[in-house]
Amino acid sequence: MAKMKREQQEQLRIMMMGPITDEYRGSTAELVKKLNLLRSTEIVAHLQYKHHAYMAVSMLLPGVKQEFLEHAAAEERHADMLATRIQQLGGVPVFKPDEIANQAGYEHVHAEEAPTLAGMIREDLVIEREQIKAYTALIRELAFDDPTTRRILEVILQETELHASEMRDLLAQRSNQEEER
Ligand SMILES: [Fe+2]
Ligand SMILES: [Fe+2]
Repeated sequence: MAKMKREQQEQLRIMMMGPITDEYRGSTAELVKKLNLLRSTEIVAHLQYKHHAYMAVSMLLPGVKQEFLEHAAAEERHADMLATRIQQLGGVPVFKPDEIANQAGYEHVHAEEAPTLAGMIREDLVIEREQIKAYTALIRELAFDDPTTRRILEVILQETELHASEMRDLLAQRSNQEEER
């Protein structure tokens, strides 16, 4: 009888834990919170890039609108990757707009709208840099505790660093144009 009970309990535990085994070294509840902070920054970054794409009408940098749109799509993808992992870890991806704004703010990410193209690019660069800091810190903290989450974070970090360097290069082009005028 006791054996039956133990087996049932084990079955239940397996059902609840899904992919999390005894070898898992992370704290899923803590990690879910941190992943939701990052997810919030991605959603804010997505909205900011979309907004910048609507507002970018400069003839001086004709490719910039497309660049903003591509980044907006990437940020949405990053938010989705984090949501998928959060769900796998037994958490709930943040989805309420006020919570998203609060949590992104905690990572120093706020949606901004500069009146000039150079200002917008600078704002995007600022968000990318805040994200790079946050991803790098969490990857270092995770070390080998949760290899799957770490891999996901590394992929996003790689793309975030690419975004930041693209924004830096656009800014450099823009200031060259200003000097030439
Ligand atoms: Fe992103
Ligand atoms: Fe980005």
